[in-house]
Amino acid sequence: VLEEMKGIQRGRLNISVATTAIYFAPTLLGAFHKRYPGIGVSMDVANRETLLQQLENNEIDMAIMGQPPEELNMVADAFLYNPLVVIAPPDHPLARQKNIDPVRLADEVFVLREPGSGTRSAAEKFFSRRGVQLRTAMVMSSLEAIKQAVQASLGLAIVSTHTIKQELELGRLVVLDIKTLPIQRQWYLVHREDKRLSVVAQSFKDFMLAEASKLLS
Ligand code: PGA
Repeated sequence: VLEEMKGIQRGRLNISVATTAIYFAPTLLGAFHKRYPGIGVSMDVANRETLLQQLENNEIDMAIMGQPPEELNMVADAFLYNPLVVIAPPDHPLARQKNIDPVRLADEVFVLREPGSGTRSAAEKFFSRRGVQLRTAMVMSSLEAIKQAVQASLGLAIVSTHTIKQELELGRLVVLDIKTLPIQRQWYLVHREDKRLSVVAQSFKDFMLAEASKLLS
């Protein structure tokens, strides 16, 4: 136990997080750092495809992603709700409507994330099941750029609610009231099944599963 305590007082955590997770991961890492100040943390930011590669190549302790991989041998634990919504500028005609039929979105254009984004693939799957082909106005890999584009009326976008807290508060964006939305997803902590987690990595996992939801509510 003493040896383990030492391990937690020092050491290093290497994680990668999905692009979307930058809106909440630093808050969680801040709380983790407060509890274990001796641990150095390195956090890489990448889209879903890249995270999968990093896990496969054993380059990181674990990843935070929006959908656990099915094919690979990974352990995935859900730790936080991740609802996806459609955003628009406040003066958009749909902004005043209630209970909008998803089919109506076929008439709109979207600023979509890049191929390889988990948000994008979840959104495309969700809408194609409802017979809606999303029309692309532009593709952008940065959420900040997407939010700016939506504010500039280039199109609608589908994003996690974690990304838009400030814009909603400031009245710069609105969430459209669409039937069957939000798209219900979860955030997962993912590592290889055959990974021998370091004491540090295990402490991080325990911390996240116990605290993340509380810290961000
Ligand atoms: P991303 O997020 O869209 O930033 O890749 C991952 C996910 O939500 O699955």
